[in-house]
Amino acid sequence: MTVSRPNECPPWSPSSWQAYPTTQQPPYPDPAALEAVVGELSRLPPLVTSWEVESLKRQLAEAAQGERFLLQGGDCAESFAACESSAIAAKLKILLQMSLALVHGARRRVIRVGRFAGQYAKPRSSELEARDGVALPSYRGDIVNRPGFTVRERTPDPQLMLRGYERAALTLNFIRALIDGGFADLHHPEYWDLDWVRHSPLATEYQRMVESIGESLRFMETLAGQQVGHINRVDFFTSHEALLLPYEQAQTRQVPHRTGWYNLSTHFPWVGVRTAQPDGAHIEYLRGIANPVGVKVGPSTSPGALLEIADRLDPQREPGRLTLIHRFGAHNIARCLPPLLVAVRDAGRRCLWVCDPMHGNTETVAVAGVPEGVKTRKFSHILAELEQAFEIHRIAGTYLGGVHFELTGENVTECTGGARGIADADLTRAYRSQVDPRLNYEQALEMALLIARRMREGGRT
Ligand code: PEP
Ligand code: CO
Repeated sequence: MTVSRPNECPPWSPSSWQAYPTTQQPPYPDPAALEAVVGELSRLPPLVTSWEVESLKRQLAEAAQGERFLLQGGDCAESFAACESSAIAAKLKILLQMSLALVHGARRRVIRVGRFAGQYAKPRSSELEARDGVALPSYRGDIVNRPGFTVRERTPDPQLMLRGYERAALTLNFIRALIDGGFADLHHPEYWDLDWVRHSPLATEYQRMVESIGESLRFMETLAGQQVGHINRVDFFTSHEALLLPYEQAQTRQVPHRTGWYNLSTHFPWVGVRTAQPDGAHIEYLRGIANPVGVKVGPSTSPGALLEIADRLDPQREPGRLTLIHRFGAHNIARCLPPLLVAVRDAGRRCLWVCDPMHGNTETVAVAGVPEGVKTRKFSHILAELEQAFEIHRIAGTYLGGVHFELTGENVTECTGGARGIADADLTRAYRSQVDPRLNYEQALEMALLIARRMREGGRT
């Protein structure tokens, strides 16, 4: 079925992207097997609902107005193996703790969005990976192929989309159950204390913040004469890069009593820098769905291209529809961001601006025993990009309405620096990511506390 859009674009359908130039799509060897999986996936129940999607869109619209702040975070890529209770609970805990710090610092409600329950596909800079004279398809995430360097493991397998859908459902089921069970009750932040917060150099600052929130809550409840019910529950939304288009297409549905099509595999899909060509397949796919959508913006994004993307994705200028996630790197943001802010502002658009201080700050460092070096990010560069982002938005009169991190609730050593001073030589001790390096639990909380402090000192940044 096709739907006409008023802006003279050709008709859109969940599969109309197939007529556009595609990038980063795996070369599935058996088209019939792919089609069978897409058919099966499109009959399975949705993972999220349209009313949750619409609720997030309303909240993002408020963030674009400066009334809320978005915290988006999680793994660079989820792995099927890490779909287990302690890793999922740890991820929720760190996002909750960070959001508590941000609520406290920003004095605004925080929207929590995980990079989870579907963040399984990765863009790669080359189609092939060569080792010792042998070239095989690059590993593109657990939903596409497997990391082992053999023909069998690297051949894209459409069945993995079904495994990914199931893992996403299991993850989401556990998250919903935890939240429903009171895991995120602000009256009981001790539920989500991670063991080693007690050993952290930031423990005192964190405990002080928790106590002050507890006091405010008790004060409000004394005034109101009752428990502040809606504070018992916090919302969690899911997001992932809408990269693997057959997976997204299969879960794009119409729902009773609403017009339009929804991607019901996630609340908030985004398009990465490598696939954000204005006339490419990914923008075509995102154009037709009703979800709020994100677009990554990098050093190669020109003001003209950004406006074209915005016109295609949001011709009606619908509040909450479009989030622009900039990721330039600490050394490029001062040069790259201002012209884009001006272009979007002068076009009369009110988008939500979010800073991803991770993807422009990746580097490879030399480490003894690892000839190819280790991919890492420095805490100081991540923080420096964020601090500049706040300042650049302040000067432009725009609002930085959120942050986007790659992080984990576990004690890994993938990014260097932070309060514990992780050094290059520590990287190999607990490096688990198959793709980009993540802030560990303590670095992530420290980052949130530092941003919160900055927001508090800078007033309404
Ligand atoms: C990502 O968010 O994991 C990613 C690949 O980002 P970008 O498209 O900004 O490089
Ligand atoms: Co990444």
